[in-house]
Amino acid sequence: MTDEHASARCALITGASLGIGEAFARRLAADGWDLVLVARDAGRLGAAAAELTRRYDRRIETISADLSTDDGCAAVERRLAAEPPVGMLVNNAGTSLNTPFVRSAVEDEARLLRLNVLAVLRLTHAALTPMIRRGNGIVINVSSVAGFGVPMPGSTYSASKAWVTNFSESIGPSVAPLGVRVMALCPGYTRTGYHERAGINMSRMPAWMWLRTDDVVDEGLRDLRKGKLVSVPSWKYKVVVAGLRHAPRRLLRGLSRDVRGRAGRAGD
Ligand SMILES: NC(=O)c1ccc[n+]([C@@H]2O[C@H](COP(=O)([O-])OP(=O)(O)OC[C@H]3O[C@@H](n4cnc5c(N)ncnc54)[C@H](OP(=O)(O)O)[C@@H]3O)[C@@H](O)[C@H]2O)c1
Repeated sequence: MTDEHASARCALITGASLGIGEAFARRLAADGWDLVLVARDAGRLGAAAAELTRRYDRRIETISADLSTDDGCAAVERRLAAEPPVGMLVNNAGTSLNTPFVRSAVEDEARLLRLNVLAVLRLTHAALTPMIRRGNGIVINVSSVAGFGVPMPGSTYSASKAWVTNFSESIGPSVAPLGVRVMALCPGYTRTGYHERAGINMSRMPAWMWLRTDDVVDEGLRDLRKGKLVSVPSWKYKVVVAGLRHAPRRLLRGLSRDVRGRAGRAGD
């Protein structure tokens, strides 16, 4: 990506040590961005930073923080207000629960909400103030196709992602005249290792439903350059989303129950 979108070429990425966040980090470092990487596990974060430093001649900072906590959010907010300025924020860290709502612990549900929703709200707010002052900046909120259409049965994940997409669509137009872009990136199922690590059996998922992290990031950044408010990578998921937006809701509920049965959870 060229420098057309932000003069401050430092990107802060949450959940940058694995999966989609790690793919963002590689791609942005290759494109000449300095990086601030955020995740909880300091060892894994350090290893990711060391690998990026070895491959790309960029300045790489790390912040070990749990974004489902007040202190974790506050640490990242402090960095967003500091120098050198952050020209791009990628709110990527997110999680889901492999337990239906009625059987999950309410603390786990609250933790999901704090990470998937409250941290996105807080960090976007903290990033926008200096971006608007400078008159440029980018915020990419990683949401999910699960946020469109009917809620997946029994899951609060899709509700949290519906918030992320709606939030981005609400905030984006209000800050665009001030030089700042906000975009929701809504991938479908993406091979990140998340499902294996969480012990979720995805063996019955059809192969065509899986996306590659690099393709998700490439298409997201392409859509950002086009000025899109919402990016849905891959034509297959564009068709799925068009269906979710226009098909009768009763039909969708039946289909989503079937997909949940195949995936073993509410899914991303
Ligand atoms: N994979 C999919 O199929 C898929 C599909 C659609 C949307 N998404 C969305 O894409 C985003 C990334 O998903 P992914 O599959 O790439 O995830 P992932 O491979 O599990 O990686 C998650 C990253 O977030 C960090 N993280 C997790 N909890 C955190 C917390 N409380 N505070 C700070 N960092 C935290 C992890 O590091 P630590 O564990 O060290 O903190 C890791 O770096 C999420 O928002 C997810 O909902 C994923």
